[in-house]
Amino acid sequence: MAEIIIVPYAAAAGSLVADAIVRLIERNREAVLGLATGSTPLPVYQALEPRLKGIDVSRVRGFALDEYVGLDPAHPESYRSVIQREVVEPLGLDPALIRVPDGSLDGIEHAGEEYEEAILAAGGVDLQLLGIGTDGHIGFNEPGSSFASLTRVKTLTEQTRDDNARFFDSVDDVPRHCITQGLGTILRARHLVLLAFGAGKAEAVAGAVEGPLTASLPGSAIQLHPRATVVVDEAAASRLRFADYYRYTYENKPAWQAI
Ligand code: GLP
Repeated sequence: MAEIIIVPYAAAAGSLVADAIVRLIERNREAVLGLATGSTPLPVYQALEPRLKGIDVSRVRGFALDEYVGLDPAHPESYRSVIQREVVEPLGLDPALIRVPDGSLDGIEHAGEEYEEAILAAGGVDLQLLGIGTDGHIGFNEPGSSFASLTRVKTLTEQTRDDNARFFDSVDDVPRHCITQGLGTILRARHLVLLAFGAGKAEAVAGAVEGPLTASLPGSAIQLHPRATVVVDEAAASRLRFADYYRYTYENKPAWQAI
C-alpha cells in the first residue's frame, strides 16, 4: 500500500516533499519530474525554491500532468502559463526541458500520442507530484477513467469546472475539455507523491487510499503502484479509517528510509 504521512499543515508537506525532490536531483542531474498544477503542489514549489539555490538544475526535465483544451496558451490560467510562473521561473529550470500537453485545437487528435512518446523518450518520470480533485480525479482523469488510459482528451465534470472556476472570471470561462496524462501514464512513473489539504479533500483521500479499486474514484489507482507516498494534513486525513496506524508507522519509521 501507499505510505501515508499525516502532517500538521501544508508547509510541512511542502518541506518533506521538496527534500525528496532535492535528493532525487542530487542523485540524478537529469531527473524527470512529473509536475502538477492546482493549489495543492504550491507549498512544494515554494519549499523547493530556496533548497535548489546552488544546485545545478540546468538539465532537470519535467512533464506536466494536464492542460485545458482550446485555452490560449498565453492565458494566465493555462497550465503552460501556470507551470512557467509557479515552477520554471522560480526554480530556474530550463523552459526548453519542461513540457506541458499541447491543448491547442489544431492537431489535438495526435497530441496525446506525441506526449506519451516524449515521456518515453525522456526515460519516464522519476517522481510524479499529484493533487486530487474533490471527485477523486488525479491529473484530469475524471470518474470512469480506465486504469490503463494514456494521455488523451477528456471532458471535465461540472464539479471540476465549478472547483476550478476560482481561477477564472466565471465558471463559463472554464474550458469543457482537457488533455491529461492517463492513469496508465501516471502509474508508469517510478514514484508517486500525492498531496491533499483541507476537509474538502477528506472523502477523495479516503476513497483513494482505503476504498475499493474503482475507476469511479480514479485516485484509487495509486493502490496499484509499488511506490506511492500520500502526504495529507489532519483535515484531509480526517476520514481515514487507519489514520492511527499511519501515524504509528511514520513515527516508527527507520531513519534510513526516506520517503
Ligand atoms: C485540478 C488539476 C489536478 C489537481 C486537482 C486539484 O483541476 N487538474 O491536477 O490535482 O484538480 O486541484 P487543487 O490542488 O487546486 O485542489
